[in-house]
Amino acid sequence: TNRPFTVAIDGPAAAGKGTISKQVADHFGFAHLDTGLLYRAVGARTLDGEDALTAAEALVPADLDREGLRTPQVAEAASRVAAMPAVRKALVAFQKGFARRPGGAVLDGRDIGTVICPDADAKLFVTASAEVRAARRHLELTGKGLAVTYDEVLADQLARDARDTGRADAPLTQAPDAMLIDTSDMTIEQAVARAIAEIESRMRGDG
Ligand code: CDP
Ligand code: CDP
Repeated sequence: TNRPFTVAIDGPAAAGKGTISKQVADHFGFAHLDTGLLYRAVGARTLDGEDALTAAEALVPADLDREGLRTPQVAEAASRVAAMPAVRKALVAFQKGFARRPGGAVLDGRDIGTVICPDADAKLFVTASAEVRAARRHLELTGKGLAVTYDEVLADQLARDARDTGRADAPLTQAPDAMLIDTSDMTIEQAVARAIAEIESRMRGDG
């Protein structure tokens, strides 16, 4: 068929989903959507006092470029609004439309392979140990000048992962047909190479 190729990448916080997605998208010439930004944009608006559903329904692509979405406070607010079924529902059409882009698409998040794109051509579940993920995120945030300790990052992340995994609607879980990539002992280059190899194998139809 001429249906566009769709890659679904899910996993817990700071597993390397975004980094891998971006490089995979560049490699294949696909568009990339970090769906976490949708929830972060809505979460940020609730921190400004807006109602979550009103914010989700009014979301426009330009909101994803808003500065300051990568803070721990916004991540926390994002995971709270992400547990609301009405908010998730309001964001489905945009994500499904993005996934059908003619040139192919990579979407990363928590429920891409399970809810948004259950028929994705390639699915990856990217993870790493909680300690490794917290260390990487801590380095990233302090590198941007944010004053946070490793222990704070780890605690925030454990709370967020528990909320994302435990919610009733679209919980974080590995799709049965997703390939697991544990990046705990991998460099970014190794993880990207592994992802590309898996996607190529699915393109050939021998995955
Ligand atoms: O998108 P997600 O939250 O899953 O993770 P990310 O933002 O892509 O990666 C979190 C941090 O880990 C970034 O600073 C990456 O550069 C780093 N990283 C790494 O050090 N080694 C990897 N194999 C993957 C990501
Ligand atoms: O970068 P990191 O992995 O820490 O977080 P993110 O991907 O930006 O996602 C922020 C929050 O949005 C997550 O903790 C989830 O609660 C929510 N999210 C979701 O519920 N479904 C998605 N497809 C993507 C993100």
